[in-house]
Amino acid sequence: MSPHRKATATAHANIALIKYWGKADEALIIPRTSSLSLTLDELYTTTTVEFGGEGAEGAGGTDHATLDGAPVTGRAMERITAFLDIVRERAGIRGAAQVASVNTVPTAAGLASSASGFAALAGAAAAAAGLDLDDRDLSRLARRGSGSASRSVFGGLAVWNAGTDDATSYAEPVAGGQSFSDRLAIVVLVLDDGPKGISSREAMRRTVDTSPDYEPWVAHHARHLADARAAIADGDLERLGEATEANALGMHATMRGAVPPVDYLTAASRAAVQTVQAARDAGFPAWATMDAGPNVKVLTSAEQAEALNSWLYDRLAPATPGLRTLVTHAGPGLTVEKGQS
Ligand code: DP6
Repeated sequence: MSPHRKATATAHANIALIKYWGKADEALIIPRTSSLSLTLDELYTTTTVEFGGEGAEGAGGTDHATLDGAPVTGRAMERITAFLDIVRERAGIRGAAQVASVNTVPTAAGLASSASGFAALAGAAAAAAGLDLDDRDLSRLARRGSGSASRSVFGGLAVWNAGTDDATSYAEPVAGGQSFSDRLAIVVLVLDDGPKGISSREAMRRTVDTSPDYEPWVAHHARHLADARAAIADGDLERLGEATEANALGMHATMRGAVPPVDYLTAASRAAVQTVQAARDAGFPAWATMDAGPNVKVLTSAEQAEALNSWLYDRLAPATPGLRTLVTHAGPGLTVEKGQS
């Protein structure tokens, strides 16, 4: 049995402004495009990993995990064990693990819970296994769990460089992004927090394999990313917002072109996007982005976020039963606390 080692890590969710959608390498999770995100203060996951502790049976034993106190089973548990196998192999240890994770992010509702989840798991598992990894290596490791998790290792604005192999595919802070990220906010419009019908993993695979709209989006994507980087360097929120909204709408169009089509957006999502566009016409900085779920996230300025939130809420709430909204700001990168060994 390996030595009893335990560690806890916290990672924050991130919202991609310029998206990752499609893999060049399924096994290593090398993306077709680079992506750029904002890590959020208010949404995070804290995970404790213990190898070979009480309840684990050592080599040949079974990993156990809980999420908010409930046991993780099925495909979700297989993904955790596959990830822990990468850590065990790298550290040369064999014990089964106990994983306990607490989430402030509604799971599987397109609020990026796999990003904070696998980044926290990477930080905790690596430390518990005795691996001493720098942020770049942690980002590469988190990527193996879920691509978007590579970005949650970093606070504020982060870019995941697509790269071409395991060594070159990692996230890092966006140059010049630190002070600008403090001026940003994201209003999250939670339209539906039920689990999504099709996983982002499956949906992006289907898009790459069958959608005639995918390659044109990849071609536009390079321009969106260049615009976003230039906007960040210049502190130009409007230019960042325009690239953000165009990139997200384009990504969703690629999915609708897949066979059979994937459409995460509901009538409520479409109404929300139109209301965001109306907010812009009314003078707010406001640009919509959506991920693998119906919820709409609105990029805005920290200064105007509360006013925009009220404006959007007032217009959407009457026709959107159960609407919840949340104002979020730039948050920190991964933190790891090493436990007793
Ligand atoms: C739409 O990172 O969840 O949120 O790598 O297969 O685990 P896997 O996918 P995941 O996909 C996220 C897709 C997205 C866009 C983004 O976050 O860039």
